[in-house]
Amino acid sequence: MANYDIVGSIAIVKFPRDAKRSDKLRFAREFLSKHKHIKTVLEKSDKFKGRLRTQKTRYLAGVRTTETIHKENGCVFYVDVEKCYFSPRLSEERKEIAGKVKPGERVLVMFGGVAPYAIVIAKLSKAKEVVSVELGRACTKYAKLNVEKNKLQDRVEVLQGDVKRVVPKLKGKFDRIVMPRPKLKESFLEQALAKIKRLGSIHFYGFAGEEEKRKLVEEIKKECARHGKKIKVSRVKKAGDIGKKFYRWRVDFRVLN
Ligand SMILES: C[S@@+](CC[C@H](N)C(=O)[O-])C[C@H]1O[C@@H](n2cnc3c(N)ncnc32)[C@H](O)[C@@H]1O
Repeated sequence: MANYDIVGSIAIVKFPRDAKRSDKLRFAREFLSKHKHIKTVLEKSDKFKGRLRTQKTRYLAGVRTTETIHKENGCVFYVDVEKCYFSPRLSEERKEIAGKVKPGERVLVMFGGVAPYAIVIAKLSKAKEVVSVELGRACTKYAKLNVEKNKLQDRVEVLQGDVKRVVPKLKGKFDRIVMPRPKLKESFLEQALAKIKRLGSIHFYGFAGEEEKRKLVEEIKKECARHGKKIKVSRVKKAGDIGKKFYRWRVDFRVLN
């Protein structure tokens, strides 16, 4: 059985490894005729890879494009599904985090992508300011466009560059930092801890199996301690499936000092 994601008018389908090309094409044509709002069917031909977490796709049917407009949480996102990471599956995550933001907060989103977290937070909360930092140039171009399209220029700022270089230069500290991290070794906690206010909240995304969940939390605590910070973990939540028995976890914690 094929599984798929819908981003705007594009369906990105993942087929079983042994699926035949003729079956894929038939599936794609049937998909288009059954789902009138879908204009393009692409095959996901590889995993999200590299620092930019981009995926390779192969054209199957419909309009030949990788660019689309996705609607979520009352916001619109322009995105190229090959040049930028974007997961429609994280829409509830974004809404949930936006719901935690109190009026007047300064929020930092590291690894911002096309700015879905920053935009949903600004749209659904009364945050004073949201800053989104993203390494990829293509993603940043879409992020800036998305801020304009959602009319949030006065509250959302998009910065391009490596979190390690950009975040230390930011003025002031933040009430909340969201870390939808790429699946890479570095934790980037050092940069976050240097910019969080006392009693501020961090939402850290990490990747682990069910059994390693506790280890993930212990490592976060240890690393915070190494930087002289005491934390109180309030929640560890499964925030998505990454592979077989391998998950994305969201660890929510407050920095006490
Ligand atoms: C898992 S994606 C999340 C994107 C976005 N927050 C979303 O939910 O759609 C991780 C993003 O981090 C970016 N990235 C990777 N390393 C980075 C770094 N050192 N500094 C800034 N951004 C980085 C990637 O380009 C990618 O867009």
